Amino acid sequence: MYVYVNGKIVPSKEAVVSVFDHGFLYGDGIYETLRVYDSVLFKIDEHLQRLFRSASLIGLSIPLDTNHLKIALYETLIANRLSNAYVRLTISRGQGSLGLDPDFCPKPTVIIITQEFKEYPEAYYKHGIRLMIAETRRNLREAINPQIKSLNFLNNVLAKIEAKKQGAYEAIMLNENAFLAEGTISNIFFYKGGSLCTPSIDCGILDGITRGIVTDLARQEGLSVHEGMFTKNDLYAAEEVFLTNTTMEVMPISAVDSQTYPVGKIARLLRKLYRRGVNAYVSGVKAEGPSLWGLEE
Ligand code: PDD
Repeated sequence: MYVYVNGKIVPSKEAVVSVFDHGFLYGDGIYETLRVYDSVLFKIDEHLQRLFRSASLIGLSIPLDTNHLKIALYETLIANRLSNAYVRLTISRGQGSLGLDPDFCPKPTVIIITQEFKEYPEAYYKHGIRLMIAETRRNLREAINPQIKSLNFLNNVLAKIEAKKQGAYEAIMLNENAFLAEGTISNIFFYKGGSLCTPSIDCGILDGITRGIVTDLARQEGLSVHEGMFTKNDLYAAEEVFLTNTTMEVMPISAVDSQTYPVGKIARLLRKLYRRGVNAYVSGVKAEGPSLWGLEE
């Protein structure tokens, strides 16, 4: 396996960063997770836009422009001969002396890790996965805004530990006012009385790219979509529940705590439409040009 490290694509054994990197020392950095379908980076522009927004929210200047980031991403995929892949693009503040001051770090560290995408077991989609509601609350927006996709992931790790202890696959975090926020790596939706509901951005969540696609698809299907503030009792009372993210796409939920749900028709429909949208996106990008898809001349 080859990894991109600051402009060089090197064997994974040689892919190392300094112990003085502020990403390691202070969780000072940002990242994106992308998925590659049939050699095409899905929604790359949206992911890079969000990366630049995260960078701007932490005052980090990304040393590559969008076009060079795309080249770096595709070159790493090509080096690894991957066509269906999981991609992790990480940018940290970089190497500097001890101390929080970002000015100690003159050069951000840019890392791209790609690996073969391992599909989730089909049984997960057929029967759903288990969720629990964590005691750990989502970071306060005024502390670390969840819209920053940051390396500072301890909030999510703590919730994930709770989920594992209870044998649940994913934990849902509430915000400081006990409204539903999001999962540790996912956004949540539920369906009740003809409405598809999902916590609004104001609840303090990451505006997932998959969440955006799924709400658009639902609206195009004529479903009423309600982005608002919901409690865990709203979730318990739902007819069906599902999660979204780049890797899971639309993942049905079989239980939240002790409440169980069937894998319903809305999750099945949206998963099907999502896949159709992926295929259309991939064909559209391929129709536009040759090997390095989506690059400007
Ligand atoms: N996680 N909320 C959180 C906290 C996330 O970390 C993610 C993504 C999402 C969903 O975002 P998207 O639909 O853009 O993938 C919501 C990725 C998959 C990760 O951490 O690897």
